[in-house]
Amino acid sequence: MSHDRIAVVDFGGQYAHLIATKVRRLGVLAEIRQPEDPIEAFLPYKGIIISGSPSLSSHGEDQDYNKAIYDLDVPILGLCFGHQEIAKHYGGEVIHGGREWGPADLHIPEEHPLFRGLGPVEQVWMSHYDSVVSVGPGFRELGYTLTGGKPHRFAAIGSDSLRRYGFQFHAEVDDTVHGTEMLRNFVLEICGCRPSWSMERYLEEAVERIRQQVGNESVFLLVSGGVDSTVAAVLLGRALGPGRLHLLHIDNGLMRKNESAQVLARFRELGLGEHLHFVDAGATFLKALEGVVEPEEKRRIIGDTFVEVFQATAEELGIAHHLLGQGTIYPDTIETGGTRRADVIKTHHNRVPIIEEMIRQGKVVEPLAELYKVEVRELGERLGIPQDLLWRHPFPGPGLGVRLLCNRGEPDCTGFEESEPALARLAGELGLQALLLPIRSVGVKADLRAYEHPVLLTGEAPWEELLRAATLITKEVPGVNRCIWNLTGHHPARATPLAAYVTPERLDLLREADAIVTEVLRTHGLYDEIWQCPTVLVPLALGPEGGELVVVRPITSERAMTARPYPMPKAALEEIRRRVLALPGVGGVALDITSKPPATIEWE
Ligand code: XMP
Repeated sequence: MSHDRIAVVDFGGQYAHLIATKVRRLGVLAEIRQPEDPIEAFLPYKGIIISGSPSLSSHGEDQDYNKAIYDLDVPILGLCFGHQEIAKHYGGEVIHGGREWGPADLHIPEEHPLFRGLGPVEQVWMSHYDSVVSVGPGFRELGYTLTGGKPHRFAAIGSDSLRRYGFQFHAEVDDTVHGTEMLRNFVLEICGCRPSWSMERYLEEAVERIRQQVGNESVFLLVSGGVDSTVAAVLLGRALGPGRLHLLHIDNGLMRKNESAQVLARFRELGLGEHLHFVDAGATFLKALEGVVEPEEKRRIIGDTFVEVFQATAEELGIAHHLLGQGTIYPDTIETGGTRRADVIKTHHNRVPIIEEMIRQGKVVEPLAELYKVEVRELGERLGIPQDLLWRHPFPGPGLGVRLLCNRGEPDCTGFEESEPALARLAGELGLQALLLPIRSVGVKADLRAYEHPVLLTGEAPWEELLRAATLITKEVPGVNRCIWNLTGHHPARATPLAAYVTPERLDLLREADAIVTEVLRTHGLYDEIWQCPTVLVPLALGPEGGELVVVRPITSERAMTARPYPMPKAALEEIRRRVLALPGVGGVALDITSKPPATIEWE
C-alpha cells in the first residue's frame, strides 16, 4: 500500500534526521529531501518540514535552494533556520541578534491547532543567533518567549490561509517537552496524514517487495556480521527461505579478535548455515595496503580490494549471477547521495561505482534502505534476533584498518608555529600540561573534513574540566581538532613518530588492546551504556623506551552524526591502563575526550 509521506528538507544533517525519525514514530513515512532537489521530487508529499541549519538566514547564507516549494499547495513548517526562511519569504524580517540558547518558556496567547492539547506555557529548546523581528501580510505571532522578563517575539508564527508555519525552537529535540505533540499536530491535523507506517507493516511489505523483486532467482548477501547485515540476512531468509540465500563473509584481516569465527557461528545459529561461504582474504588486503600511510588512500584500497575479492569469490562459488544483497541503511543512501552540501569527510565503501552500476541494472536488493539504525534494531527484534546481536557496537566497514594509524617515521608539524603559542597560553590558564602531537587525524569542522593535529593533555582535573579544556583547545588553537588525556601520568617532553605500516604484528597488537577494552567495558557493566568505543593504535613514542600509543575513545551518540565522550569510571580506566600498558609494544595509553564535531568518532 502507499503511505502518506512528509518531506524533510535537509539544511543540516542531524536536525533533519531527527525530524524524520520523530515523524516516523508518529506512523507517517518521512523522507529526507535536499534543498536543491527539483520540484518534482516534492510532489508525492502531503506536507513539508524545513530543518534547522548551521547557516545564518540573516546573512543570506544557503539561499540557493528550490524556492518553488513555497508554490506547492501543501502545508509547510519551518524549524529554526526554516522558520526564518519562511518569515523572510513571505515579507518578514530576520536580523542577526536576539540569540537564545537552551531551554525557554514559550507563551501561547491563543489556541491554535498546532498547539492543540498543550498548555499556555510550554518548555521549548532554543539554539539560534538570528531572529524573526517582523512577519509579512497574513502572518501572525502564535507564540513568544520571555527571557529575563524581556519578550523574544515571533517564537512561533503562522498563516492559516497559506498553511505556512514556523517555530524558532527545535520541536524535534527531547528538550522541547511537548515537541512530539507539536509535530503530531502539524503532520496529522494540519497536513491530514493518515498514520499507517509501523514496523510490523514494514516487515510485511518488505517481505512482499523482496519476493517481487527477486522472483525465482537467488540472492547472495555480503555479511560482515554487524547489526545491519545480520538483520538483512534474517529478513531475506524469511522472504526467500534459506535455500535461495547465499551468505558470503570475507575476513579482510582487519577484523577484531576471533570475530570471523564468531560471525560464522552466529549465522549457523540463526538457521542460515545452508549456503554460508567464507573466504580468508587477510593476506590479499595486507599486500594491497603494504607501505600505505595516508587515510583516504587506505580507505580506497580497502574498498577496492573488497570488491575484487567478493567478485572473484562469487565467480568461484558460481553465485555471481545471483542478485547482490546489501545491508545498506537509510543514512548510507543519503550521505552518499552526492548532494552539493556534503563534503567528503570519509569515503564509505558501500556505494562504489561498480555497485552503483548494478543498482541501475536492478541487480541489487537492499531491504533496509529506508530504515534508520534504531528502526533496523526494532525490525531485528520483530524477526526474533537475540538482543546481544542487535545491540553490538557498530564496527566500520574498513575495520581495524581505520584504527591502525600509519606513519613513515617523519614528524608532521604543519602549522605548529601558529598553534604552539596559543596552546601554551591556554594550557597555562587551564592548569594542564599540553603537547601538540606531530601526526594528524581526521575531524569535521563546520561540516568540512579537517585533517589536523591532536593535543595530549596531562594532569589531574575533574571530568567536566577536562571536557571544557578539550572544547576550548579545539576551538581556539588553530590546526587542532582533537584532545586526548594521558592515562600514564607523567608529561612527556616530546612525542616521536615511529615508522609503522599495516602489518600482521601491529594488527595483532591492536586486536589484543581492543579485546581488553571490550572485556573491561563488559565486566564493568559499561558496554550497553556506551554507543561505540574505538581503540586506536597511534605510532608515537612518548618516551625513550619507545612503544606505541594506544588511544581509547568511548562515546555516546544517537546517530553517529554527533558524539560525546563517555565519562569512564576510574576503576575501568585504571584496569584498561594497566592491562593495555602491559602489552609488549605499547608505550602509552590515552583517553580521547573530544566531541564530534570537531573530531570524528574514528581517527581516520
Ligand atoms: P566518523 O568517524 O565519521 O564515524 O565519526 C561515524 C560512524 O560511522 C562509522 N564508520 C564507518 N562505517 N564504513 C562503515 O560502515 C566506513 O567506511 C565507516 N567509517 C566510519 C564509525 O565507526 C562511526 O560509527
